[in-house]
Amino acid sequence: KREENKGRDRFWEMKGSKMGSITGTTQAENKEAAENAQAAKGRDDDRPDVVGADGEIDFKAGAKFAEHMKGSKASAQSEFAKTKTIKEQREFLPVYGCREDLMHVIRENQIVVVVGETGSGKTTQMTQYMHEEGYSTFGMVGCTQPRRVAAMSVAKRVSEEMGCELGKEVGYAIRFEDCTGPDTIIKYMTDGVLLRETLREPDLNMYSCIIMDEAHERSLHTDVLFGILKKVVARRRDFKLIVTSATLNAEKFSNFFGSVPVFHIPGRTFPVDILYSKTPVEDYVEAAVKQALTVHLSSGPGDILIFMTGQEEIETVTYTLEERVEQLMSEGTCPPLNVLPIYSQLPSDLQAKIFQDAEDGNRKCIVSTNIAETSLTLDGVMYVIDSGYCKLSVFNPRMGMNALQVFPCAQAAVNQRSGRAGRTGPGTCYRLYTEMAFKHEMLVSTVPEIQRTNLGNVVLLLKSLNVDNLLDFDFMDPPPQENILNSMYSLWILGALDNTGGLTKLGSKMVEFPVDPPLAQMLIKAEETGCSNEMLTVVAMLSVPSVWFRPKDREEESDAAREKFFVPESDHLTLLNVYQQWKNNGYRNDWCNKHFIQGKGLKKGREVRAQLMDIMKQQKIPLVSCGQDWDVCRRSIAAAYFHQAARLKGVGEYVNARNGMPCHLHPSSALYGLGYTPDYVVYHELIMTSKEYMQCVTAVEPHWLAEFGPMFFTLKESHSSMLKSKAKRKEDKAKMEAEMQAKRDEEAQLQEAQ
Ligand code: CDP
Ligand code: MG
Repeated sequence: KREENKGRDRFWEMKGSKMGSITGTTQAENKEAAENAQAAKGRDDDRPDVVGADGEIDFKAGAKFAEHMKGSKASAQSEFAKTKTIKEQREFLPVYGCREDLMHVIRENQIVVVVGETGSGKTTQMTQYMHEEGYSTFGMVGCTQPRRVAAMSVAKRVSEEMGCELGKEVGYAIRFEDCTGPDTIIKYMTDGVLLRETLREPDLNMYSCIIMDEAHERSLHTDVLFGILKKVVARRRDFKLIVTSATLNAEKFSNFFGSVPVFHIPGRTFPVDILYSKTPVEDYVEAAVKQALTVHLSSGPGDILIFMTGQEEIETVTYTLEERVEQLMSEGTCPPLNVLPIYSQLPSDLQAKIFQDAEDGNRKCIVSTNIAETSLTLDGVMYVIDSGYCKLSVFNPRMGMNALQVFPCAQAAVNQRSGRAGRTGPGTCYRLYTEMAFKHEMLVSTVPEIQRTNLGNVVLLLKSLNVDNLLDFDFMDPPPQENILNSMYSLWILGALDNTGGLTKLGSKMVEFPVDPPLAQMLIKAEETGCSNEMLTVVAMLSVPSVWFRPKDREEESDAAREKFFVPESDHLTLLNVYQQWKNNGYRNDWCNKHFIQGKGLKKGREVRAQLMDIMKQQKIPLVSCGQDWDVCRRSIAAAYFHQAARLKGVGEYVNARNGMPCHLHPSSALYGLGYTPDYVVYHELIMTSKEYMQCVTAVEPHWLAEFGPMFFTLKESHSSMLKSKAKRKEDKAKMEAEMQAKRDEEAQLQEAQ
């Protein structure tokens, strides 16, 4: 097996084509794939089929293989990364072979679309090429990423390649974290950060070039940036825009920007065998664990990559796999396996682990969200196990808000996933769904985020960029009109827009805060309600990952520790309480450890708080404190969240106060199981898993709801008044739409007159 693998490596080196071309590499690519396939022949017999719903794993076969594995290296990446210098690694990447051609096209054109397989070096190399070509002498080279993790990890890698300290010449910026300095010439950032920068400097004068990376992902912010950057290019002749895409749907990008050239980086991918489940899988979490074990015990070297939808599942898979491997190891029937989770909320030092070589060359098994679909390049993966599902934030018109929901992936997405197995050599992808499901139940490509989510933030931003009529904005795929109107309606409820859809004073203040509109509104209004100091902490704590530490095996102990902080009527105030106690204890880390609290999370919360406080100062919003008067705080929370209220109905059951949809207290809530169930609550967000759960809940008085949300609530909610308020709501919305239409007509007349 080892010999075979060596041969494959050599083959791979030989195949590195040195030619680049502007279009039409498809044929060459096909030929290459066919040649690669030839090399992979003869391996087909010894591969196990995917585990179905009731599939069993033959551990005996595994035991034999374990013998074989002893002393052999399972991580295919290690050899290459260890033995080659950084320079050699850089020169080995496919993009290096066509560097001159690529730079030529960029010199000749202001906008270029670049297409290349994941791992061809787009993200890490193109910024450096631009710098080396001198573009950084009159501005920074910026590169946007839809995901924070990618921005951070890539910046770190590039700083290593350039031999400088992260944050100096090479830096990154994500929300609430700016790791750049006066020397920074290459800056990685999330697309959201760049979008905010256009507010301050519409021409982006500090940049000579922007690489919009991962454009195929069509994140909300990337889609908005498309329209904005297109204008920047028109205004600034010295500005370069590069749009990269991992897939071949680049024509659309090219057309949007006016038929700009598309540059293809020749691929160097290996064929991937795709194995489908024979029967529908009932529990893909369990099936993934089984399949990973089967691969580990009976397949040759190479790392495993498992795709799950979110943190909870990832933790379950990680834990279960570790447990089973440990058990098998104690029986002496299994080699060690390094199981590594990755998701956006994972602390960054743990995230970095997935890029490190496994100790002793053990096989790695990375369990990931769709973050590893294209944003992260993981070398050495030869087996992909795909659940076929992902979590998407989707606007739910019935609830009038976004909710995170699990959906089947699109065909394009699962094909990207399987491609991850073919980077180092021929690979295998185990799909935990049937071929029928792939063909008939999956969409061809993912619906762009802009067409499926609430656009509250984006609408606010565009309004303050003086895009008055959103229906006229240059969108690649315009959001449905209904979506825009719904988003405008929710901003109107918060007082950010007036009846003609114009930005109010409150609205323009809200834009300044890099948080969701309701939270921004809560901060601004807390001056009036008398507790801006406390709300500042609450908003900061809501903007960082959960601070509760709940280690496996010590669940009860940590739950008990957590309960000590509970403010029985509010999860928001429980967060405030933790923060205040931490502060009273000198912001000490050992205090956190003692109480099962993530010190890092609190520290981050403190940083975010400081940043938000700066914005409050700039906006001249005074800090006022209510001391420990929890009722003042709860009223302030009600003022921001009244549109997300629920009413008690039966024992422990709530229904949404606006539309009667059932929703539940989450078992982790301070209000859960304490024998205290208030009549009315407001919640921070809704999570749809097995049920609709309200996340982060606070008990409120009904008259507060009536006070802050007169468009929804009147004090005595008899059936008739409910109908009345419903009618009023309809009337308000119609009125607003009519006023807006009138404004549009007026503008149209004006234009005609001109
Ligand atoms: O952007 P693209 O998918 O085309 O490739 P890339 O992210 O620039 O990755 C090129 C190479 O850089 C990969 O093969 C990895 O070996 C290496 N890399 C790394 O070691 N650590 C990272 N955080 C990112 C990339
Ligand atoms: Mg990339």
